[in-house]
Amino acid sequence: MIIATLTGIESVPQQLIDLGVDRYKINIEYVTVPVRARIVFLEKLGEMLKERKTEGSVAEGGVFQGDFAREINRVFPDKTLYLFDTFTGFDKKEAAKDNISGFSEFADKISYFEMTSEDIVKAKLPYPNKAVIKKGFFPQTAQGIDDRFCFVNLDFDLYDPILAGLRFFYPKLVEGGAILIHDYFNPEYGGVKSAIADFGKEYKINPTPIGDGFSVVIYR
Ligand SMILES: C[S@@+](CC[C@H](N)C(=O)[O-])C[C@H]1O[C@@H](n2cnc3c(N)ncnc32)[C@H](O)[C@@H]1O
Repeated sequence: MIIATLTGIESVPQQLIDLGVDRYKINIEYVTVPVRARIVFLEKLGEMLKERKTEGSVAEGGVFQGDFAREINRVFPDKTLYLFDTFTGFDKKEAAKDNISGFSEFADKISYFEMTSEDIVKAKLPYPNKAVIKKGFFPQTAQGIDDRFCFVNLDFDLYDPILAGLRFFYPKLVEGGAILIHDYFNPEYGGVKSAIADFGKEYKINPTPIGDGFSVVIYR
């Protein structure tokens, strides 16, 4: 039996165990290996930036329930963490645009990203006082921020906000800083790869895979 879930990575195995399924029959590596690889990348990059005493804030664009935001906050406890999300799911026009462009078959039908809130995210953060939550439509919510950044995770899934995120954050990256972008290798969100390709016409960039099978990183 195959159960497809990402957000249920902890709760679904527990439900199966409670139902009497033997623990050794439950294999969750298909999800845990890529998730773990991304976290290890973040931890090691965080160590290196700390050793180099790299300045700058950190940010995530596309937060949902805050699972990766928690890791960023843990790895960078002293840095201001900007969190950008509508907290009400995809913008309908943006999702429909990726659907019409042929980037994503499902983007305009996805409603589960609505199932979140700022409180759900804040409750997960080990250092919530370092978080600045920017609720609403990105890039409008980024207006007025003139920080430099040493690490940004872009996980908006769609063409427009990924391109807007690169245009906003890349010029603000400190030397050695990095933008991690999820879903580059995910054919269900083809807008991500296209946005990075189009951004590459504006700046000379070298997107590099990080080994999780989904993400690329761009350094400054
Ligand atoms: C895949 S989820 C993020 C997952 C999260 N990074 C994690 O690791 O758990 C994508 C999120 O991007 C947000 N999003 C997409 N386009 C947006 C936009 N233009 N402005 C604000 N949020 C946006 C959606 O609301 C959704 O919560």
